[in-house]
Amino acid sequence: MKIIPGPASEQLAGKIAELSGLKTVPLSCRTYPDGEFYVRLEAAVEGEEVAIVQTTSPPQDTRILQLALIADAARRNHAKRITAVVPYLAYARQDKMFLHGEAISIEAVARMLKAAGVDSLLTVNVHQEEVLRRFPFPARMVSAIPLLSEYFKRKGFEKVFTLAPDDGAQWLVEEAKTILGGESGYLEKKRDLQTGQLTMKEKQLNVCEKTVIIFDDVISTGGTIALAARAMFDHGANAVYVACVHPLLVGGAEKRIFETGVREIVGTDSVASHVSRVSLAPLLSKEIGKGV
Ligand code: R5P
Repeated sequence: MKIIPGPASEQLAGKIAELSGLKTVPLSCRTYPDGEFYVRLEAAVEGEEVAIVQTTSPPQDTRILQLALIADAARRNHAKRITAVVPYLAYARQDKMFLHGEAISIEAVARMLKAAGVDSLLTVNVHQEEVLRRFPFPARMVSAIPLLSEYFKRKGFEKVFTLAPDDGAQWLVEEAKTILGGESGYLEKKRDLQTGQLTMKEKQLNVCEKTVIIFDDVISTGGTIALAARAMFDHGANAVYVACVHPLLVGGAEKRIFETGVREIVGTDSVASHVSRVSLAPLLSKEIGKGV
């Protein structure tokens, strides 16, 4: 197998190749003055299995198209099998029609990748794992929650209160609890489908004088985490920390979260940012070897 480092994940792909002892296929990429993307493989892939490592955090549409064009190049140059390794899978949250007239965006993206030549996909913590079963090729996800939990364990956090900011994130804290111990709970979040306005249902959780770590898959605007952190302080928490797999951190998210009194935000390098203190490379290098 060879690794093709997509332009959105060059560093991560380099680390994965190093840890797994796999060769990389360098790309020649450029963007034309009118904005179109150009790509060329600079090494042979004929008869090879290849793993294209390309995250699809903002600018999502550009990065998805880049992934599709790289897959097309690999297919045309006779790669035997093409796996898309997509640490952050954009559009995964639009996995059904919430309102009449909508698209199911993630299914459209998956069909597009299939048409471009992708044979299978490996990703990390998608919002609802079931969505992957509707893909037109084998697709699976791995979880980065153990890596994030180990990060806190190394810092001496044990028997803390782990919190899911909504019921969809409950299994994340169950997973974290197996490493960190302690108690856990979840909040009930409601998002107005028209305005996007968030509200949290009032809930009694036993966090008084405790350290709380909030786990979530994605931080986008930070609205969810800010509301959850405020609820924890209102209930007497001593300190609140935040762990997320995909730190998109758009539109002043960090400021919004830190203003509540949160002490630290930790994310992975699925989306490279200054909070990406946990690398997915060890996990993905192991998983790539297993196939999809
Ligand atoms: C959805 O429920 C996800 O798990 C996240 O909680 C959500 O996408 C975070 O978005 P934001 O940071 O904008 O509240």
